[in-house]
Parts: sequence; C-alpha cells; structure tokens
Amino acid sequence: MSDKKIRAALVGVGGWGTNILRALLATDTVRLTHICDANPDRIRALAAQYPDMAFTERYAELVGNPDIDAVLIATPAITHADIAEAFFEAGKAVFVEKPLTLSLSDADRLAGLAQKDPTRPLMVGHLLIYHPAVTMIKDIIDDGGLGDIYYIYTKRLNLGVVRQDENVLWSLAPHDISILIHLMGGAPEAVSAHGGAYLSQTVQDVAFMTLFFSSGRMGEIHVSWLDPNKERKTVVVGSQKMLVFDDMEATEKIRIYDKGAQVKSAADFARSISIRHGDIHIPLVRTQEPLMAEVRHFVDCVREGKRPNSDVRQGLEVVKVLAAGDESMREGGEIIRLK
Ligand SMILES: NC(=O)c1ccc[n+]([C@@H]2O[C@H](COP(=O)([O-])OP(=O)(O)OC[C@H]3O[C@@H](n4cnc5c(N)ncnc54)[C@H](O)[C@@H]3O)[C@@H](O)[C@H]2O)c1
Repeated sequence: MSDKKIRAALVGVGGWGTNILRALLATDTVRLTHICDANPDRIRALAAQYPDMAFTERYAELVGNPDIDAVLIATPAITHADIAEAFFEAGKAVFVEKPLTLSLSDADRLAGLAQKDPTRPLMVGHLLIYHPAVTMIKDIIDDGGLGDIYYIYTKRLNLGVVRQDENVLWSLAPHDISILIHLMGGAPEAVSAHGGAYLSQTVQDVAFMTLFFSSGRMGEIHVSWLDPNKERKTVVVGSQKMLVFDDMEATEKIRIYDKGAQVKSAADFARSISIRHGDIHIPLVRTQEPLMAEVRHFVDCVREGKRPNSDVRQGLEVVKVLAAGDESMREGGEIIRLK
C-alpha cells in the first residue's frame, strides 16, 4: 500500500473530531472518503461543506465497506470499545481517541484482537507523545542531560469541558499518564489517587494521582475541569538539572534550570548540603502541531504496516493506570499495585 493514498473514514465529528478532519484534509497521503456522525444536524452541515464525500449517521454501514482502509474514531469515550472492535474485526486499520476504552476488560480485549494482525495499526490518540517539546524532553532525559530523574509532576487544569460519562481522571489524565510512561521509560508499579466530585456528586471534577515508578522515582498528576486557570505544565526534577515545560507559552515552552542540591556528607547533612543556582537555558522547540504529527504518523504506519508509537499496548497500559486510580479514589487513596 506504500505508494498510494490510503482511503479513510472519520467517525465522530464533534469538538475534537473537527480538528482531526482538518488534519486529515491537510495530509496528502490520505484521502478522506466517508464521514459518520450520529447527529443528523452535524451530518447536514458537513455534507453541504464537503459534497464529494459520503455521509452516514450509522457507523455500522461503513464497517464492511471494502473501499475503506482505515478509520479514525473521535466519538465519546464510552463508545470507543464497540466501534474500534467492529472496524478492526472487519480488517480496517484503526485510530481511536484517548482513552482507549473506559474499562480494563474492553482494553484487554482490543489488545488481544490487535495481536492477531501486528502489521495493521490499532493506534490510540495519545497526542502529547507527538508534541515536539515532549520529544525534546525525552531526548534530553535519555542523553542524561538532567542526571537521574527524581520525580515528574504535571498539571492539566481549566474551567470545562465537563463530562458525564467519565470522570476528570479518565478525561484528562490519559495525556499525562502517557507522558509519564514515555519519559520514565516504563509503566508505574503502583498508584494512589484522591478526587473530588462537586458538580454532580458522582463524577470527580478534580483529581490528584501519585504514580510510583521503579527505583523510588515518582510522578504526580493534577487534573481538573473546575479551575480558574488554564494550565498545561510538566516539571521534571533531576539530580543535575530541572526542566519546566509550559505548553501555555507561545514560544519559550521549555526552560532548563541548572539548579540542584547536593549532600556531600550524610554524616554532617545540615552543613554539607550545597544548593546550586546556575543558568537557565531556553532551547528552541520546533514548531509543529502535535495533531498533524499524530495523524501523519497513523497514516504512515498504515501505509508501511508499522507499529505506532502509541499503539494499543500503550493504550492498555494507560487504562490500567486509570482503572487503578479510580479504585484508589474509591478506597480513600489506598496504594493500588499494578499487575
Ligand atoms: N486528543 C485530545 O487532545 C482530545 C481533546 C478533546 C477530546 N478528545 C477525545 O475525542 C473524543 C471526542 O470528544 P469531543 O470533545 O469531540 O466530544 P463531542 O461530544 O464534542 O463529539 C463527539 C461526536 O461524536 C458523535 N457521536 C456520538 N456517538 C456516536 C456514534 N455512536 N457514532 C457516530 N458518531 C457518534 C456525536 O454526535 C458528536 O458529534 C473523546 O474520546 C475525547 O476524549 C481528545
């Protein structure tokens, strides 16, 4: 398939699916042929705008269509498992938005299904893995530029979008969990979480989750859709240097602080500790929209039969952490070990 355009369908063209539509139209190695949305008003509006495409309100009508190579799914999370399974079973390559599913058993099933054909991608939309700043941070960490990693914390805060099918952990934390797994080089061993449900009494609007990685490294994730400020921040504290990634900054997104503390003699801790305040370095981060990079990566993987960077196994790892976080919130913050 590598020298011709793949033929794609998009299922779900709401808030985020509209962005995926734009990215697909700007990618010259894919031809978007079919659009599906359960909302008839949305279909009418899109059909008027794109008269050359085929439209339907029922995804089942597209599942067996031999003229579709790949499908991108941007429907509400509660529908992901059924829609992704139907298309993958029918022989299509599948991109599904985060979170992969809202249950561990569904995610397990999809991961098992994908094993049957490893050359056909089942990719999860862990967008931040495709962010040029995250790519740069990963390279800096892997090159030892920060020393040993002690801990990483992230903040993803805003007022809205409030969801009802899933709590704030499932809605927003997939991004942060995927970043932490990527930067730490593996999944956590255990998690503990606390959350608060204020708007509905049943669905958490704010959550704080601690992730325990090997060798004592820690991660902390703060997510909220009930916060006065929009924040998108990742802080990495290493033994040599510290790094701040602020995605709200237009240009200077990464700052590397030559700061640290060293204990020269454990026996005389108080007097031997030395604090270092050095320069702040602001590297130039390549400008590339993460969504464009993500969609192109999916299309390339379909054309070349490659395994995506955020494949279904990573989707399953993220769902495991989310499910453990949920369990911990129910149990008052108990530490839950991941199997
Ligand atoms: N990667 C990101 O940064 C990011 C950002 C926002 C949302 N998302 C994800 O995108 C997905 C959609 O979120 P959204 O904010 O666009 O939601 P939305 O409610 O705005 O849009 C969902 C669309 O799917 C349609 N739909 C619902 N059920 C359907 C079905 N069975 N068949 C066909 N169409 C159906 C709805 O009519 C609607 O148009 C979610 O999984 C969400 O987590 C990802």
